[in-house]
Amino acid sequence: MEFDASRARIDHAAAVVAGGVNSAFRLGIRPHPLVFASADGAILTDVDGNRLIDYFLGMGPMLLGHRPPAVVEAARAQLDRSILVAGQTELEYAAARLLVELVPSAELVRFSVSGSEAVQAALRVARAATGRSAVVKFEGHYHGWFDNVLWSVAPDLAKAGPREAPVPLPGSGGQMPDPNISVLPWNDAGALRERLAAGDVAAVIMEPVMFNSAGILPVPGYLEAVREACDAAGTLLVFDEVITGFRVAPGGAQQRFGVVPDLTVLGKALANGFPVAAVVGLRRYMDLIADRQVLHGGTYNTQSVAMAATLATLTEIRDGAPYRRIDKVGARLMEGLLEEFAAAGVEARIVGYPAVFQVRFGAVRPSDFREAQRADNARYADFAAALLRHGVRVLPRGTWFVSAAHEDGHVDATLAAVRAVLAETRS
Ligand SMILES: Cc1ncc(COP(=O)(O)O)c(C=O)c1O
Repeated sequence: MEFDASRARIDHAAAVVAGGVNSAFRLGIRPHPLVFASADGAILTDVDGNRLIDYFLGMGPMLLGHRPPAVVEAARAQLDRSILVAGQTELEYAAARLLVELVPSAELVRFSVSGSEAVQAALRVARAATGRSAVVKFEGHYHGWFDNVLWSVAPDLAKAGPREAPVPLPGSGGQMPDPNISVLPWNDAGALRERLAAGDVAAVIMEPVMFNSAGILPVPGYLEAVREACDAAGTLLVFDEVITGFRVAPGGAQQRFGVVPDLTVLGKALANGFPVAAVVGLRRYMDLIADRQVLHGGTYNTQSVAMAATLATLTEIRDGAPYRRIDKVGARLMEGLLEEFAAAGVEARIVGYPAVFQVRFGAVRPSDFREAQRADNARYADFAAALLRHGVRVLPRGTWFVSAAHEDGHVDATLAAVRAVLAETRS
């Protein structure tokens, strides 16, 4: 497949759009960022006319696939009623009730527009609840692009200091220094207990399954130990389930692992592609927002069309049918990939679940970001770039998102493409 029309459009657009793209994460994609004409089910069509099997899924949100009828119809119908009312609609109450039903920690809900913003709301609540300022995050975990959390997401290990006490490294030029952030290795309960003993930490925030910079599961007992350590220190535990929410299980990682955080950040699959996020949590903390001690705002919060899409998405999720499809197709894909890698003599591991998993090349079984850097990430990025030329679009960092619109035929075509790429690499 060729991508020349995309390249020409990006080059031309760069005269008016910075870098030709509107998010930093769309730069650096090989062979270059793509321009799309349409998306349907599991397929993207780009301006070169290529039809690509899509495992990006909008970076995670499209759990039901692109343009699922129930969501499209709900959004379309809402356009005839209202777009933005700066007030309430029944839609947001119905959507909130479904969140409370689905997500174990959700006693109260506040909707936002992006995951980055909802993270800010959660941290503000934690600071207000505890009267403390410090926040602990973990090396390699991503919690949005704002200054106070964009620390040590993909740090240069030559500058990152010792494993047990990483030096917080900023992720962007122009980022404010932040004396309140502490960075720790993930999956190390001892290091966390030691840090919390100082008694100054408002919140511990984590991806409960790490998917951003590597695919790593919590080691057995780790989430429980974190929960206990936070309780002992009077620190709030925040699960950032922007990726894991609705994918690792309908109620997120907290449902799968049975560990309930104080506050949870949701986004992505929550509205199947519409810009909706939420901070949810235990009533005693979320009440700080209700009684106006903590300010949480946003002109576009609960925009009517987005809420109609949220309600439609959550209704499908609660029904369970999407998971029955994804579990079958995603599991087949995971198994098929492992078989292809084994047949080609490529050492590879797959970590995760049918709806979101990570493929890694190399023999490492990491439990934290640093160990994960020993995988053959450069080779995997080459593999992802080659797969695109065979009509399969996967993230270069190894994450695969599977939707309810992926079918056996897509899996067959994907495995054939993988086989072809592995054969090319060998010859
Ligand atoms: C775990 C996690 N938290 C927060 C965010 C930020 O969400 P948004 O891009 O909607 O601001 C992301 C985005 O990828 C994420 O993966």
